[in-house]
Amino acid sequence: MSPAPYRMMPLDGTHDRTLFNSGSEPLDLYLRHGVGQDIRRRVASCFVAAATDGKVAGYYTLASCGIPLHDLPLETARKLPRYPMVPATRMGRLAVCRSHQGKGLGGALLMDACKRIHRNEIASCALLVDAKDSAAKNFYVHHGFIELIPRPMTLILPAASYQRLLQ
Ligand SMILES: CC(C)(COP(=O)(O)OP(=O)(O)OC[C@H]1O[C@@H](n2cnc3c(N)ncnc32)[C@H](O)[C@@H]1OP(=O)(O)O)[C@@H](O)C(=O)NCCC(=O)NCCS
Repeated sequence: MSPAPYRMMPLDGTHDRTLFNSGSEPLDLYLRHGVGQDIRRRVASCFVAAATDGKVAGYYTLASCGIPLHDLPLETARKLPRYPMVPATRMGRLAVCRSHQGKGLGGALLMDACKRIHRNEIASCALLVDAKDSAAKNFYVHHGFIELIPRPMTLILPAASYQRLLQ
């Protein structure tokens, strides 16, 4: 459920992203100038938390990806078939505008992504993120994400974990 007063929805032309400021310039510039082209080229989908004034309070992007089975922690890998690659969904970007941080919106955006992946007809066995720094990594670990073996800044939330949270 979206924490009031936000509405979670796909990004569209009615959303005001001009003043979005998360404290991470690359993430802010991407929302203002880069995401439209990625959506048109079908390399990313973008979902926003819209505030009551139409401004974007937070956003994330999703795209399909694959994870080599041997990169997964043993505990996760042993529950999966022995395919060389398993399907997953990458959250390429996640950011909350500074004026809305610390109100549970980042966590709510993660949960919204899990719901969309769970509802999707195309299989995905984990939500994958690339943490841009140790603060971001701590945020993901706080939400139950685990490291991929060879890439400590790449983390996954296995489907089994978020399915439990969605029940
Ligand atoms: C990281 C970010 C998305 C968090 O959003 P937020 O709305 O401020 O976070 P929330 O208020 O939803 O926090 C939810 C929980 O995570 C915890 N949390 C937040 N940031 C954390 C951090 N850096 N380390 C550990 N826990 C953290 C909160 O304490 C809260 O815990 P609780 O549910 O037990 O109370 C936001 O700070 C941001 O946009 N930062 C700049 C961009 C960025 O770093 N994006 C990550 C992409 S790699």
